[in-house]
Amino acid sequence: MTLSASSPVGIFDSGIGGLTVVKAIQALLPSERIIYFGDTARVPYGSKSQVTIRKYAQDDTGILMKYQPKLIIVACNTVSALALDVVKRAGHGIPVLGVLEAGAELAVENSRNNQVGVIGTRATVLSNAYPLAMNALNPEVEVFSAACPLFVPLAEEGFIDHPAAEMIAREYLLPLLDHGIDTLVLGCTHYPILRKMIAEIAGQEVRIIDSAEAVALKSKEMLAGNGMLNGSQCHVFPHLLVSDLPQKFKSLCELFLGKDIPDVELIEV
Ligand code: DGL
Repeated sequence: MTLSASSPVGIFDSGIGGLTVVKAIQALLPSERIIYFGDTARVPYGSKSQVTIRKYAQDDTGILMKYQPKLIIVACNTVSALALDVVKRAGHGIPVLGVLEAGAELAVENSRNNQVGVIGTRATVLSNAYPLAMNALNPEVEVFSAACPLFVPLAEEGFIDHPAAEMIAREYLLPLLDHGIDTLVLGCTHYPILRKMIAEIAGQEVRIIDSAEAVALKSKEMLAGNGMLNGSQCHVFPHLLVSDLPQKFKSLCELFLGKDIPDVELIEV
């Protein structure tokens, strides 16, 4: 396979949550051609077993590989936590970046008191992958985690500043804040949709780390390092592949991407 700077960047997630990563990449690297696969037929991954998540990760990577990407971004914390090795193997040497590693690194860099909070899906929190990644970088960091399963449907319903969402968020976040964290990782690609509300509850003292923004920064660094940045001045719309077209697809896309809908292709998994 011949890769060049004009090859696309492949991105996948369990559904459309990873469009927050697409948005961050577009903001930072507007010339990159993006192929995005959202496994909308099988979302959510966060409540599935490890065996199933690893099987899905293999399928998702296989779909992106058909487009010969120069970089694969795992825009799903759950897959990054439980199946990054599967993606690397199926990627046959193509560089792979996971949102989790990028988010963990940025959190460790930003924390001043080494007390870091992480919120994510049940599978991500149970995997312990964030504490492991952060402690590998700095053993002094203490990590407090909370699974926030209701955040995914709240984000998808657009309950961005709804009082019900705020009540649930307080329930999830206050125990973490009691530990005196100064940094909070949004360890699920759906959560940036709720960022404003989460940041208001966390207060000004707590720095919010968006794993989507973190992986965009890391992608730029990696592509530049490999001489693979696309130098073209053309801005192309991302190409979206989905395994199902949910009824709310258009409004969900707008919510996550904040723009007109790019071209969408329905594929079988
Ligand atoms: N986008 C997924 C993640 O980042 C969460 C949604 C799901 O459970 O599939 O973990």
